Amino acid sequence: MLSASTRSIIKATIPVLEQHGVEITKNFYKNMLSENPKLLDIFNKRNQMTGAQPTALAMTVLAAAKHIDDLTVLLPQVTQIGYKHRALQVQPEHYPIVGKYLIRSIKEIVNPPQEILTAWKEAYQVIADIFIGVEKDMYAKELWKGWEKFTIINKLSTNKSGSIVEFVVKPLSSKVFGNNGKSSKIFEPGQYITVRTKPPTGNDGHYALRHYSICDIETPGVFKFAVKLADKGLVSHYLIDDVNVGDEIELSAPSGDFSLDHSLLNKDEYPLIFMSSGSGATPLISMLQEQVMKGSPTRPIVWIQTNKSELEQPFAETIERELSKLKNSENIQIYTNQNMGRIDAKFLEEKNIVRSKADIYICGSLSFMNDIIGLLEAEKETHDYHRLHYEPFGPKMSIA
Ligand SMILES: Cc1cc2nc3c(=O)[nH]c(=O)nc-3n(C[C@H](O)[C@H](O)[C@H](O)COP(=O)(O)OP(=O)(O)OC[C@H]3O[C@@H](n4cnc5c(N)ncnc54)[C@H](O)[C@@H]3O)c2cc1C
Ligand code: HEM
Repeated sequence: MLSASTRSIIKATIPVLEQHGVEITKNFYKNMLSENPKLLDIFNKRNQMTGAQPTALAMTVLAAAKHIDDLTVLLPQVTQIGYKHRALQVQPEHYPIVGKYLIRSIKEIVNPPQEILTAWKEAYQVIADIFIGVEKDMYAKELWKGWEKFTIINKLSTNKSGSIVEFVVKPLSSKVFGNNGKSSKIFEPGQYITVRTKPPTGNDGHYALRHYSICDIETPGVFKFAVKLADKGLVSHYLIDDVNVGDEIELSAPSGDFSLDHSLLNKDEYPLIFMSSGSGATPLISMLQEQVMKGSPTRPIVWIQTNKSELEQPFAETIERELSKLKNSENIQIYTNQNMGRIDAKFLEEKNIVRSKADIYICGSLSFMNDIIGLLEAEKETHDYHRLHYEPFGPKMSIA
């Protein structure tokens, strides 16, 4: 427990540290990663370069400090970050390293008196202990420990352009699925696996870790995920261009809190809305399959997918097949290159998406998510915001 004086020092200094937040975090990553190159096997170097990540970690420590009087309010956020950490295999012994470089950056950038640095050291420890505790429970429940080897048994295009490729992988060890081989029993539809590879160029010989959503729950004994070729993307290019059937890759166990609200599976008065862009359709396909398998066939379902063109649309046949098993479904495809409009306020109104009881699931790039969430936020009066669920294919914290 922190003393009252430590807590008041923390609260008084948060604004100054936040003002220098970007400098502190950049300095923090630069020092930590150059002096601990092993950590480059965990951190996504590209995220540092593009600026997607530098603010997330250190700024979250500052944000957490605002609740230093009652850190329990942070548990939902800690849980969500914990899923990412668990997927990346962040361990308790990593926390003191992050703490050391965070405090050192505060000293180097702001140079506050020693008593302030001491207070922040103590506060970091308390915050880190909360993360370590939450993650300990997650590790205890993970499907397998660490990184397991999988063989690629199939690799196929999911769209006409070939820009999104599905991988079917089978574990070398039988302990992953147990004896019955039923994959649908062991992960939540909507979750992702994390792939660990060592691309021969572009990552200085370090591992590169990337999350990919599981896009099928029907085939036992395998995982299926689909990778979109990202412009200049390290791992997506490596997997699509260089990794072939028969090759081995390593996976950590399914993770993530993006899943259907199971209490509504049989409630026809709660329409189910899926909205995705590009490869964002992947976790939603697993969820759609779950609804088809376990839910009411008469529950209204609207599937909205946006892609540049029909050539880019992934999983067209699978989606058509799943929707055809339902009695009250609608399939809306938007091709942005073909002047078919965009998802905007008018579209949401015309398609009656913002119904008060709609249960909405959104997935895609950060910009797509920000656009849609912004639109839905403006409709807060009409729609119960608790039934809005989303998974960006980037740091979740960067969504408004
Ligand atoms: C929860 C979650 C689930 C996901 N599920 C999926 C999924 O099912 N399918 C899928 O395809 N993806 C998914 N992703 C995204 C995936 O994890 C990777 O981020 C994606 O494949 C890109 O990785 P990459 O190594 O190819 O690109 P990176 O090398 O990490 O680069 C990312 C982007 O940064 C930019 N960039 C790279 N280098 C530079 C540079 N030098 N200068 C400027 N810009 C640069 C490029 O625009 C590139 O597109 C998911 C992400 C999350 C967080
Ligand atoms: C209290 C301390 C920590 C806080 C507050 C914190 C916070 C965060 C946040 C907010 C994210 C973004 C999550 C998202 O995608 O939405 C993140 C991601 C991440 N964290 Fe942590 N973290 C902490 C400790 C650590 C430690 C000890 C490590 C390991 C050394 C670590 C490694 C990572 C990695 C690798 C990512 C993924 C981003 C990337 O690859 O660039 N974190 N963390």
